[in-house]
Amino acid sequence: MAKNKKTNNWLNKHIKDRYVLESKKMNFSSRAAFKLLSIDKKFQILNKVKYVVDLGCAPGSWCEVLNKKPNIKNIIGIDKLPCGPIKNVEIHQIDINDYSKITEVMSKYNYKFDLVLSDIAPNITGVTTIDQENFMVVAESILEFCKVYLNYGGKMAMKFFNGYKLSELKDSLTDVFDEVSIYKPDSSRQKSREVYLVCVDYRHQ
Ligand SMILES: C[S@@+](CC[C@H](N)C(=O)[O-])C[C@H]1O[C@@H](n2cnc3c(N)ncnc32)[C@H](O)[C@@H]1O
Repeated sequence: MAKNKKTNNWLNKHIKDRYVLESKKMNFSSRAAFKLLSIDKKFQILNKVKYVVDLGCAPGSWCEVLNKKPNIKNIIGIDKLPCGPIKNVEIHQIDINDYSKITEVMSKYNYKFDLVLSDIAPNITGVTTIDQENFMVVAESILEFCKVYLNYGGKMAMKFFNGYKLSELKDSLTDVFDEVSIYKPDSSRQKSREVYLVCVDYRHQ
């Protein structure tokens, strides 16, 4: 199929997508908001948390969902691309794999987080092995982040692509969280390999 025709097909589907329409009605920056809402409906991860960090936060719809929860007091957003400003959110432009920059910026916060969220996906190459390995690099950075900045008993939800590395990642997460579930929200396109690993009760000391 010619590239223009493919782009038009995607655009037509996107315009009619019920989550795109709904996100416009509810003033969310993107349809991704419904993925977090769906994760929360199933696992109540936004209950009883005060300090939250949103990794890969641009364009900001997850932060907008977080903003609606009265129990959430502090929201930090991190993205490698420019983002914001978003009301009530402190945003930092950093690559999650850049440990020294993360350490430098996070040192100004004298608290740990109750919830770490990540909607980061590395650029897709279409080659399964490369995509799985690239995603593992991101997942390892997120786990390192949790080791330093996630409270004991805290929660974490991160995106991953379904593939041969998923069960290996789930096993590593099970070593440090009491419960780990794999979940695909309705709003996640069926054709997409994306799933979310939802983890509760962080046990790493
Ligand atoms: C699907 S979007 C997130 C959408 C967001 N949850 C929302 O609701 O608006 C994924 C984001 O991850 C960011 N990202 C990708 N790789 C990253 C990395 N290594 N470090 C930080 N951010 C990254 C991208 O720039 C992109 O903005």
